[in-house]
Amino acid sequence: MSKDPYSLASEAAAALSGAAGLDTFDVALVMGSGWVPAADALGETVSEIPFTELPGFSAPAVAGHGGKIRVVRTPAGRHVLVFLGRTHLYEGLGVDAVVHGVRTAAAAGVRTLVLTNAAGGLRPETQSVGDPVLISDHINLTGVNPITGTTFIDLTEVYSRRLRALVREIDPSLAEGVYVAFRGPTYETPAEIRMLRTLGGDMIGMSTVLEAIAAREANLDVLGVSLVTNPAAGLAGEPLNHEEVLEVGRATAARMGILLAKVVDRL
Ligand code: 6GU
Repeated sequence: MSKDPYSLASEAAAALSGAAGLDTFDVALVMGSGWVPAADALGETVSEIPFTELPGFSAPAVAGHGGKIRVVRTPAGRHVLVFLGRTHLYEGLGVDAVVHGVRTAAAAGVRTLVLTNAAGGLRPETQSVGDPVLISDHINLTGVNPITGTTFIDLTEVYSRRLRALVREIDPSLAEGVYVAFRGPTYETPAEIRMLRTLGGDMIGMSTVLEAIAAREANLDVLGVSLVTNPAAGLAGEPLNHEEVLEVGRATAARMGILLAKVVDRL
């Protein structure tokens, strides 16, 4: 039998502490595609550890998705674990691989998790490309759950109300929305997008929900932010392409970085 995922996360956390020369960390921040350049605005880089040096992590499969943990010290002296890249369910490595970073962060002492992503917009009437949206709740349509067993975990407030209010104090223009996750790697069909609008979704993507669930299991406070990179299929009349998703991210990275730097120092 392979090692249980929580022990593997503890090993990774110990390796991370050793490599960074720090006993504990305050915040973990998972940078979705398009968000990576925003990491530079957070503060001083203390060290960078490639995923390949830590137990249980794998190199990212998709161009533009990074592949290391950067340890950053913010101007206020907080230590942030910045995950530059994440594992997605569509890579086929399984659900434990998808949430390994979150479990590692929890084992490393982190109490607050910031999850970011690039998402398709389901409400082009009110969303513009390049807008960050705070995740107020999610709909998990991946078909899987990172938790096995008979412990029933409350998901009434996956995305902390307190943290959302704090971010809106910094930027009152930010909207909130419900993030829907599909497994991918296909984008959705126009019929699926019409369905998701009817179900109450506001953004659609292929990440975040499993990580948020694993974080709640570990009792972390979660903040989620989507960057709307394109209208979802059938809403703009153009086909979707990954390069465009990355380009919008690059163009808005500075705004994201400034926002996240302020957020992290006020958590
Ligand atoms: Cl339209 N769908 C999904 N699943 N992920 C996305 C997206 C759409 N746009 C960016 N990421």
